[in-house]
Amino acid sequence: MNPKIQKIKDIVSVLETRLGGFTPEIGIVLGSGLGSLANSIENPITVPYKDLPGFPVSTATGHKGNYIAGTLSGKKVLAMQGRIHYYEGYGMDMVVLPIRVMLMMGIKYLFVSNAAGGTNLGFHVGDLMIIKDHINLLPNPLIGPNFDEIGPRFPDMTRPYDPSLIRLAESLAAELGIKLQKGVYVGGTGPSYETPAEYKYFRHIGGDAVGMSTIPEVIVARHAGIPVFGISVITNEAHDDYADDYVNDGQDVVDAANAAAAKMTLLIGKMIEKI
Ligand code: HPA
Repeated sequence: MNPKIQKIKDIVSVLETRLGGFTPEIGIVLGSGLGSLANSIENPITVPYKDLPGFPVSTATGHKGNYIAGTLSGKKVLAMQGRIHYYEGYGMDMVVLPIRVMLMMGIKYLFVSNAAGGTNLGFHVGDLMIIKDHINLLPNPLIGPNFDEIGPRFPDMTRPYDPSLIRLAESLAAELGIKLQKGVYVGGTGPSYETPAEYKYFRHIGGDAVGMSTIPEVIVARHAGIPVFGISVITNEAHDDYADDYVNDGQDVVDAANAAAAKMTLLIGKMIEKI
């Protein structure tokens, strides 16, 4: 067997034992400052990444580093409280390994969240943005021999984010009175934030928000044919006309994400109830 697949199987087998036969229907990735959704999971079983053989450990600010399995809105979910980023120094195989583990555990949907800088001048701190498409500026995680048993060599990316999940989010947000933006997420390597000229460039190429994650995870889920829903919390307004004393700061990003986590949790909870 391909050693990479074997590695995923070994992790899955430890995780299955720890979860006592729990079979998740929905995988959820909780981004910077958004880990509190995990508090809404009922009958949670927490498995720290460090307990899993060969698993990367997330070192990023605002990322805890646990799988949390349990029930959310009546559905069996497996949430990642903290993700792995390319900027932490991990190769792409490690960045997407936790998603491949969730895919092998049998998830039928993947929900991904992140904190992002709003390059769209109409976006403001605290806004939620449904990701309708993305521009990938990170290495593609599918580079290398294809796992034919998982998906095709050249996966279609015409609808990276599931149109019916987007429609569901929009109609529930309208009922709940939650304002939603919708846009294109640009994923770069980080870890430095963008220069004013880079933010402007991303706006010009069609980006509405920029971050340092998510897209590799979405690519491996789409490779496996799993529908994806993506949502960004706009944690800073990214433009090219800053006050003289303005700085981008990682803790401010986490604080802004924390402040918006409750409405994101509400929306995702309602969506999961309906699917
Ligand atoms: N750039 C990149 N990543 C981010 C940003 C940003 O402005 N805000 C939150 N994550």
